[in-house]
Amino acid sequence: MAATGIVYLVGAGPGDPDLITVKGAKCLQMAELVVYDRLANPALLDLVQPWAEKIYAGKEPQRHRLDQDEINNLLIAEAQKGKTVVRLKGGDPFVFGRGGEECLALAAAHVPFEVVPGISSAMAVPAVVGIPVTHRQVAQTFTVVTGHTADDPFGTNWDDLPRSGTLVILMGVKHLPQIVERLLANGRSPTTPAATIRAGTLPEQEFVVGTLADIADKAQHLPPPAITIVGEVVAVHEQLATLGARFRGHNQAVANYQQLY
Ligand SMILES: C[S@@+](CC[C@H](N)C(=O)[O-])C[C@H]1O[C@@H](n2cnc3c(N)ncnc32)[C@H](O)[C@@H]1O
Repeated sequence: MAATGIVYLVGAGPGDPDLITVKGAKCLQMAELVVYDRLANPALLDLVQPWAEKIYAGKEPQRHRLDQDEINNLLIAEAQKGKTVVRLKGGDPFVFGRGGEECLALAAAHVPFEVVPGISSAMAVPAVVGIPVTHRQVAQTFTVVTGHTADDPFGTNWDDLPRSGTLVILMGVKHLPQIVERLLANGRSPTTPAATIRAGTLPEQEFVVGTLADIADKAQHLPPPAITIVGEVVAVHEQLATLGARFRGHNQAVANYQQLY
């Protein structure tokens, strides 16, 4: 029997293919099999050897998707054949990426693995439109939550979230009106600045800026993937724009500022 191979859980970064790490790119170059997700930029597959196998494990409604057990079993079976396998995931594998579950399954099957962290959209997407998730004297903490479970009583506990600091909401665009309601009920002011950015770091990046009172309306035309940032740090973007800084997709935002201020 061939020696057991290895699985690299690689973070693909937030979208722009240049934002993968050097180590992640090296893993793709030496992979014999790549199992990739929808949010990993397909341009990264150009780094893979032409003879290597590529399997889509994504989550698009029209395409067959592998469920989590199928993915785990595939990674285990292929590594046990002696292969070097890359599991390529959007952003960072451990930020709402089920990377922990995959590591547990690999460890239970005694398959060697290594996590290659990626740049998470949670910080990178705000960054590219000039929103720092922390900013001295403005926000000393940031909290990253999923909005996917907004209507699930066992999901995010919105009442337990901090009332100050920055809130970064992933997977929340569909449920934004309910999320805003919960945040207002939890004590956040309706005048708190907020921004929603879709397809951050990609050429099609778009974003809107407003307040907690109007962000759900302003963002309703933005399809996923999108991130909403709530907190005073959003005003840093405005300061940068006022100083002449320009960001991809900024026209909409500048128009919004003109309405706002
Ligand atoms: C399943 S989570 C995976 C997060 C990923 N592991 C990370 O660290 O970025 C998917 C969500 O991440 C956010 N996201 C990922 N890439 C994004 C991008 N380029 N622009 C905006 N939001 C993005 C969206 O909220 C999307 O619904």
